[in-house]
Amino acid sequence: MVNRFNRLTSKEWLPFQKSWFRYESEEKLYVENLRFFCKAEPTEEAVYYQGNHLDLVKELALGQDIQLVDKDSFTSQSLQFALLDLREDVYQLNSIDDYNSYRETVLDIAEKIYNQLIHRRFLCIFIPNIQTADRYYPYAWDLGLQLSSLFSLKDEKIACMPESIDVQDMYFQPPNQTFYALYFRKDENSGGQLVERKHNLFQSHHKDLNVRKFQNKIPSWFILKPAPRKKDEVLHPAKYPEDLVTMFVYEFTEEDANILDPMSGTGSTQVASLKAGRNAYGTELSDFFAEIAQKRCQNLVQPTQADMFLPANKQQFKLINKDARLISVGDFPLIDYLITSPPYWDMLNMKGAENQAKRLEKGLQTNYSESRDDLGNIADYESFISDLVQVYINVLDVMKSGSHLTIVVKNIKKKGRNYPFAWDLADKLMTHLDLLPEVFWCQDDINLAPYGYGNTFVSNTFHQYCLNFRKP
Ligand SMILES: C[S@@+](CC[C@H](N)C(=O)[O-])C[C@H]1O[C@@H](n2cnc3c(N)ncnc32)[C@H](O)[C@@H]1O
Repeated sequence: MVNRFNRLTSKEWLPFQKSWFRYESEEKLYVENLRFFCKAEPTEEAVYYQGNHLDLVKELALGQDIQLVDKDSFTSQSLQFALLDLREDVYQLNSIDDYNSYRETVLDIAEKIYNQLIHRRFLCIFIPNIQTADRYYPYAWDLGLQLSSLFSLKDEKIACMPESIDVQDMYFQPPNQTFYALYFRKDENSGGQLVERKHNLFQSHHKDLNVRKFQNKIPSWFILKPAPRKKDEVLHPAKYPEDLVTMFVYEFTEEDANILDPMSGTGSTQVASLKAGRNAYGTELSDFFAEIAQKRCQNLVQPTQADMFLPANKQQFKLINKDARLISVGDFPLIDYLITSPPYWDMLNMKGAENQAKRLEKGLQTNYSESRDDLGNIADYESFISDLVQVYINVLDVMKSGSHLTIVVKNIKKKGRNYPFAWDLADKLMTHLDLLPEVFWCQDDINLAPYGYGNTFVSNTFHQYCLNFRKP
């Protein structure tokens, strides 16, 4: 049976659902998007395209029976889809002023698209974030936030291009081999009016970048499959792989550096740091997880019989079972690098959420704790973000000037709405920190679910942001 949204069968529907993809060619990129967001059949409903590949898109549209319209004629047409490819334009912008005036023209066209777009149909925008010689400009996030007042921001996919050669540079500079495909829908929740969204994303503090030389071994995206978890580690519902920590620790620190994770969970950060010859520090609210983390570190520093194969480690570690909001000077020595991952709002309390059913079946704990101090139990989004920001701002008191931070997060979809948690968090932190390029941890080992089948586009979120900052 075919569906109303795009006439694809459920088997054809599925491959588009992953929230990141390997970019192979312009043709494939366009074919997949046109095919997913258009009904491939003769119809009066047109498609608006703007970008540098008009000839290619014309040819593809012809092949799919799609009526393509341009700038001059689309304002009298009903649109089933609109695609703005801003990549080439944005790569060529020379300054933030250039971007601001370019943005005006994009917002203007987006308003016109909104007026013509059929209810519950999509606008897609391809746009990168941009690294200049000494600043990082998250243009994609800005445009996503600005257009959220007009449309409903529904989803994003990360285009992952083949990795280029190592860059040797003073600055942390991943090779920028990704761009964003942002998906907006005109629907019952869209505001229908552009309201400027004020944010700090273009702010910068650094003046004197007297920094160490970076190896720049971190790619702009990578796939990591966590090693199978041991019995006590499985008890924690949301861990990140130690390999991820190792990669960042080598990039951002020297041997013997002091590394901190204010929300340690079962101690992935500390275990990876100790194994890499660094000192490891942390806090964790749950006494249950803090104890597991403590034992894992202890075993590394003074191996028990069972763990004798691990090298005895001369490094220091200290884990404190307490609320990260209460970390104070004196708890730890001055810190060189922080890597951490917070609760993803209260998503673990959402009974239907991915993974929850499976953990319940196995009798495993589905959230971190019932404590009111657990940030994963704050139901209001704004309060959650503001408490979390407080954790990071507070912790800056124990960090060295010029030190770096990596925060692993993702944008969140809850009850049909999209909350750009990663962008919002970066925005709030930029009053205190400098933003460095984000890199993506892409997951490739989870089965896709046909969310939204036949009705609308809802991706499976299989990419996490590793947000990077520097303390001025
Ligand atoms: C995503 S998990 C971290 C997992 C960790 N990276 C690992 O690999 O094991 C977030 C952790 O934050 C802890 N947490 C929540 N609220 C906290 C608070 N106020 N202070 C300290 N830790 C907190 C939770 O108990 C949970 O273990």
